Order: sequence, then structure tokens, then C-alpha cells
Amino acid sequence: MLLKLISFLFFFISVSLISVESRCTKGCDEALASYYLWDNANLTFISEVLNSNIVPSSTINFDTILAYNKQVANKDSVDAFTRLNIPFPCDCINGEFLGHVFQFNVRPRDTYDKIATEYYSNLTTVEWLQQFNSYPPTNIPDTGMVNVTVNCSCGDAAISKDYGLFITYPLRPGETLNTVLTQTNLSSDLSGLVQSYNPEANFSAGTGLVFIPGKDANNSFRPLKSSRNFCWSYCWDICSSNSSIAVAGCWSIYWIFPKEGKGSSITFSSLPRSICSSWECFWK
Ligand SMILES: *[C@@H]1O[C@H](CO)[C@@H](O)[C@H](O)[C@H]1NC(C)=O
Ligand SMILES: *[C@@H]1O[C@H](CO)[C@@H](O)[C@H](O)[C@H]1NC(C)=O
Ligand SMILES: *[C@@H]1O[C@H](CO)[C@@H](O)[C@H](O)[C@H]1NC(C)=O
Ligand SMILES: *[C@@H]1O[C@H](CO)[C@@H](O)[C@H](O)[C@H]1NC(C)=O
Ligand SMILES: *[C@@H]1O[C@H](CO)[C@@H](O)[C@H](O)[C@H]1NC(C)=O
Ligand SMILES: *[C@@H]1O[C@H](CO)[C@@H](O)[C@H](O)[C@H]1NC(C)=O
Ligand SMILES: *[C@@H]1O[C@H](CO)[C@@H](O)[C@H](O)[C@H]1NC(C)=O
Ligand SMILES: *[C@@H]1O[C@H](CO)[C@@H](O)[C@H](O)[C@H]1NC(C)=O
Repeated sequence: MLLKLISFLFFFISVSLISVESRCTKGCDEALASYYLWDNANLTFISEVLNSNIVPSSTINFDTILAYNKQVANKDSVDAFTRLNIPFPCDCINGEFLGHVFQFNVRPRDTYDKIATEYYSNLTTVEWLQQFNSYPPTNIPDTGMVNVTVNCSCGDAAISKDYGLFITYPLRPGETLNTVLTQTNLSSDLSGLVQSYNPEANFSAGTGLVFIPGKDANNSFRPLKSSRNFCWSYCWDICSSNSSIAVAGCWSIYWIFPKEGKGSSITFSSLPRSICSSWECFWK
């Protein structure tokens, strides 16, 4: 019994250690970037700056972008001062946060400010660019690649399992929670939900990123993936990581909990739930 207690403690200690050192374990296939079209922006340019395995850079084929933006009538002339949703992969970066690093080909005289506020339509910020690039702000070369990191979200099982696809939405002056909901075609009934995904956000601030549930190319919400075994998949990620503490912790959890069919109070099948409720066992 004492041994079991020790390994129980050991498991919780090791899990909290791991949670501290890694804040995400994996990303998701897709997120959407809300790109506000400045004057003269066109799909060629957008497919170049937001180019990924989902949206290839192209001068003629914009099928993926158009599939997510059915309102676009003419691909050769998109309306300035409207927004497009551009899909991109959402990765877990350095185990710390969810985002995607785009590679941007700089042109002569580009600045971090121009890259963030114009080319990337405020999907990133100057500070966030400086974090991932070694070039000093006053000395960006005329040619070369700049890492452009755009944050994203994959959802949160603690809030809702119905939403697993999120728009990274840069707020603009004059917007409010209500106008953002209208803009993203969401019912105002969802305002509480949207706020809970962005607990710190001031939707009227005119700046900053918020995460809004988005619809896929079929115009439907996408539920969180593997939501049923959410906790298990999280635990599996920890167990399959290379940390020896994690592996030992996972073995001990397997060992300490009584297995099903032995007349125990905690059965193996109820294990995920009991773990989930005992600490924040969510992939964020
Ligand atoms: C698209 O926009 C870029 C950047 O503004 C511009 O250089 C390019 O000529 C435009 N292409 C077309 C086909 O309008
Ligand atoms: C980005 O934000 C800056 C500062 O608020 C603003 O001047 C600029 O017009 C914004 N860019 C776009 C494309 O909305
Ligand atoms: C992206 O997320 C990180 C971690 O949460 C945060 O520190 C950073 O400020 C965010 N970047 C932007 C542009 O909002
Ligand atoms: C972009 O990120 C990569 C990988 O982290 C790094 O090796 C490279 O130096 C960065 N580019 C710049 C310009 O700092
Ligand atoms: C919003 O929804 C309406 C009606 O369902 C649809 O006609 C319109 O294209 C949608 N707008 C966007 C930007 O998806
Ligand atoms: C949100 O931002 C707006 C504009 O900066 C400001 O007027 C308002 O007081 C802020 N609201 C809160 C709750 O901080
Ligand atoms: C849209 O629906 C079709 C038919 O149900 C399906 O084959 C396709 O994979 C769906 N596309 C997306 C992006 O979910
Ligand atoms: C885990 O270990 C394997 C084999 O030693 C290695 O190939 C892999 O890159 C490691 N993964 C991580 C995330 O460190």
C-alpha cells in the first residue's frame, strides 16, 4: 500500500513537472487566418505570404482559398477592406504554444513593421517577429527569409468539444464582440462561448488576436478531434515522449490503479475521467 502511495505521488509530481516544461504536445491539422484585405491585396500575394502545405503559393490556382471563402465572386479581384479565411497548419512550437512559422521572402527595404501590419495584416506583431528572427530591426537584408509566426488555437475540451477549428482573428479599431460575431457569421448566442475562449481579450481594444470558432470548407463547424478519449490521447503523448520520468510515471499509473474486475472502486475504464478531473489534463 505504501509503495502504491509513493508511486501515486511520483506520478503526479512527474506529470506536473512535464506540464510545466511543455505547454502543448501537439497541434492540429488546420486553423484559419483572418486576413483583412488592404487596398491592392490579391490572392496571388496572399497565397505567397500564407503559403503552406494546405495553401500552395500560386498565381492562378486558388481553389483551397476559394473553398473557404464562397463569398468571393471573382478570384482576380477580391474586395478590399473585407476579410478572407485562409487555412494553415497549427503546430505545437517548441512545446510552448500553438502557431505556425511561415517563411517570408523579404524584398528590399522591408521592415518588421511592414511585414506585420501590411503583408501579414496584423496576424503577427513586430515583437513576435523579433522573437523568431536574428536580424536586428534596423538591418533586415534585402533578400532572404524571415520567420513569420502566426498563433493559432485547436480548441479546448474544457470549454466545448463541438469546436476544433479556430480563426486567428486580428481585431481592428471600431470592432466589438458583436461586430466580430457578425463578421464571422456566428450567432450572437455564441458571445459567451467566444468570450470564454478569450478570457483576457477586450474585443473593443482595436488590436490584438482573438480566437473564434470557424467553419470548414463545407460551411460546418468541426468538432474537437478524438474528443472522447481526449485525456487518453494527452496521456499517450506524455507517455510516448522521450522523457524517462514520463515513461516511469505512466507505468506507475498503470500499476497503481486497480484493474477492472477485481471489485475495486476505481475501474480502469473510469480512469481517464478521474485523471481529467483531478488536474488540467487538456491539450492546449
Ligand atoms: C498582387 O499584389 C502584389 C503586391 O501588392 C503585386 O505586386 C502584384 O502585381 C499583384 N498581382 C496581380 C496579378 O495583381
Ligand atoms: C494593422 O494595424 C495597424 C495599427 O493598428 C494599422 O495601422 C494597419 O492598418 C493594420 N493593417 C491592416 C492590414 O489592417
Ligand atoms: C502568441 O502567443 C504567445 C504565447 O501565448 C504570446 O506570448 C504572443 O504574444 C502571441 N503573439 C501575438 C502576435 O499575439
Ligand atoms: C528562423 O528560424 C530558424 C529555426 O528556428 C532559425 O534557424 C533561423 O535562424 C531563423 N531565421 C532568422 C532570420 O533568424
Ligand atoms: C454567412 O452566412 C450567409 C448565410 O448562411 C452566407 O450567405 C454568407 O456567404 C456567409 N458569409 C460568410 C463570410 O461566410
Ligand atoms: C476595451 O478597450 C476600449 C478601447 O481601448 C476601452 O475603451 C475599454 O474601456 C476597454 N474595456 C475594458 C473592459 O478594459
Ligand atoms: C465536405 O463534405 C464532403 C462530403 O460530405 C466530404 O467528402 C469532404 O471531406 C468534406 N470536406 C471538408 C473540408 O470537411
Ligand atoms: C525521441 O527519441 C528518438 C530515438 O532516440 C528520436 O529519433 C526522436 O527524435 C526523439 N524525439 C524527441 C521529440 O526528442
